[in-house]
Amino acid sequence: MSLVLFGPPGAGKGTQAARMIREGGKFHISTGDLFRGAMKNNTPLGLEAKSYVDSGQLVPDSVTIGLVKEVLENNRGQDFIFDGFPRTSPQAEALEKLVHDMGVSPIRHALFLEVPQETLLTRLTGRRLCRDCGAVYHVEASPTAVDGKCDKCGGETYQRKDDSEDVISTRLEAYAKSTEPLKEYYQKKGLFVAIDGQGDPDRVFARFQPYL
Ligand code: AP5
Repeated sequence: MSLVLFGPPGAGKGTQAARMIREGGKFHISTGDLFRGAMKNNTPLGLEAKSYVDSGQLVPDSVTIGLVKEVLENNRGQDFIFDGFPRTSPQAEALEKLVHDMGVSPIRHALFLEVPQETLLTRLTGRRLCRDCGAVYHVEASPTAVDGKCDKCGGETYQRKDDSEDVISTRLEAYAKSTEPLKEYYQKKGLFVAIDGQGDPDRVFARFQPYL
């Protein structure tokens, strides 16, 4: 079975998806990671996405849906964790159609990570990532052992450009306008599950267990 993991920026979707993958059996699709990877490599997709990602706007639906379709085509027969996709109603409708048309394992739950706004700000402004392996840290909640150096691969850690306070507010606006309505969309489909995203990551992960 496949899962949709959604919620506001900084709710902990990537952190929880990493734990789900460690349990095995699912293929992780994070549209945010795919856009950042393409930007790093200066591919045509990266060049197209860059101005949207850096300014906190959503990348146009046609581009995002095309990207997900391509990943699904290349990974047929997998159970998926959709992380940060869908983020708009047209994306949700497109995903439903893709799942049907491509014989993807059906979506069992749309898991919504619930976190208060002040916590989101703390998480986003304190986030650091490894430039080489993408590992995610937080300056207070999960710091690296050596400042600026990834514990896993020794790579340099950095702050995402869109984790500055002005871009975060644009991301939160985009979330409220386009993604929050998906709660109702999935409630109507009987797939919606709200998960409390507060507390340390292992405690949050335990709340996901009944749905994995
Ligand atoms: P994306 O990368 O998906 O960003 P996001 O949704 O804003 O989510 P984040 O990656 O910021 O946060 P997260 O929820 O994964 O939190 P994390 O686990 O890292 O998208 C970036 C951009 O790409 C978008 O703005 C848009 O431009 C574009 N894009 C992507 N998908 C798109 C789509 N479908 N359509 C159109 N455009 C799209 O945690 C955050 C921090 O908190 C970390 O430091 C972590 O260590 C810490 N933390 C996590 N959990 C806990 C906890 N329980 N306790 C304490 N600290 C915690």
